Amino acid sequence: MKILVTGGAGYIGSHTCVELLESGHEVVVVDNYSNASPESLKRVEQITGKKISVYEGDVRDRKLLERIFEKQKIDWVIHFAGLKAVGESCQKPIEYYDNNIGGTLVLIDEMRKHGCKKIVFSSSATVYGTPEKLPLDESCKVGGTTNPYGTSKYMQELILKDVYAADPEWTVVLLRYFNPVGAHESGLIGEDPKGIPNNLTPYIAKVAIGELQEVGVFGNDYPTPDGTGVRDYIHVVDLAKGHVAAIDKLNKNGVYTYNLGTGKGYSVLDVIHAFEKACEHPLPYAIKPRRAGDIAECYSDASKAERELGWKAQLGIDEMCASLWNWQKKNPNGYNPR
Ligand code: NAD
Ligand code: UFG
Repeated sequence: MKILVTGGAGYIGSHTCVELLESGHEVVVVDNYSNASPESLKRVEQITGKKISVYEGDVRDRKLLERIFEKQKIDWVIHFAGLKAVGESCQKPIEYYDNNIGGTLVLIDEMRKHGCKKIVFSSSATVYGTPEKLPLDESCKVGGTTNPYGTSKYMQELILKDVYAADPEWTVVLLRYFNPVGAHESGLIGEDPKGIPNNLTPYIAKVAIGELQEVGVFGNDYPTPDGTGVRDYIHVVDLAKGHVAAIDKLNKNGVYTYNLGTGKGYSVLDVIHAFEKACEHPLPYAIKPRRAGDIAECYSDASKAERELGWKAQLGIDEMCASLWNWQKKNPNGYNPR
């Protein structure tokens, strides 16, 4: 099938392009490179030995989308394009709603006009807000989000559900990712955050390579086994495969919602220690105050995806850390050569 991957040059997008190409799908990417480099797609081609049709531009650009849908016969869209930094979204809510909600509206309108009504949407565990219970399953309450980024994900889910309610020819797949980490085993593609990373694992990787001094552990007084925050980290390659499973399996119209996680929670200290094993040296860390907006624990019940899609995460925390370390060592400046 021919898949349009919006935001395909980004972290999760590039890994998903690899898995799609390796499963025999054709890939078309649209990306404005606001948080990515064209180099990632060249490396996807290098890994797979296959070509991607790339359009540089914004998903809010109607003319561009018209051109893509007219030229390419797209079967499915996987919609990654969006802004994703929680803290920044609080400073720039208008930009976040414009990009995330505005982008989705233009995209689905153009999809409808061109008779392409199958979409996989990158949602997030953040839509659950403060977890009602653990592990989180897909029937748990959503909403109660605490930042514009999370609210934009929740709103996009509602919009897509309404689109299906109005037109049952749509297939809408809402994938709620837990914490994607790690990199492709080749070390050719990975996460390339701009500036000082906000997320735990890229920060640890920069400490491991000596670029940053120590890991700040945001709170050790949570009601968790060691007092530090617990999350469901999922290897980005497993996550990417979840998208292929959805496309290959779901052939009836409807709205489908799946958690993509491992079902296991690891604390901040667990992750630091797992990374120490990967990089083979101790990592300095210091306990800091809690970060505003953080919750104590978040992990998934991912059994619905296993039952219905036949997908289950295969890789554990050690593989996540080893692959991230491999990427970090091979690309100390990400996609930008020094
Ligand atoms: P990313 O920033 O690496 O990828 C997003 C890509 O979209 C980038 O290549 C960026 O250049 C592009 N983009 C952004 N706005 C665009 C626009 N208007 N038009 C065209 N391209 C645009 O982020 P990622 O980690 O790969 O995340 C992909 C998706 O998954 C996002 O929607 C994100 O919100 C969601 N998600 C990510 C996480 C995570 O922790 N990484 C967790 C849950 C959900
Ligand atoms: N943490 C630290 N030190 C750091 C960074 C993070 O101790 O330098 C802790 C946090 O307090 C938290 C855990 O590490 O307990 C994970 O934090 P991340 O920032 O890596 O990830 P979050 O769980 O906060 O959020 C991520 C994405 C969100 C997404 C959510 C669920 O950033 O966009 O996962 O998918 F919504």
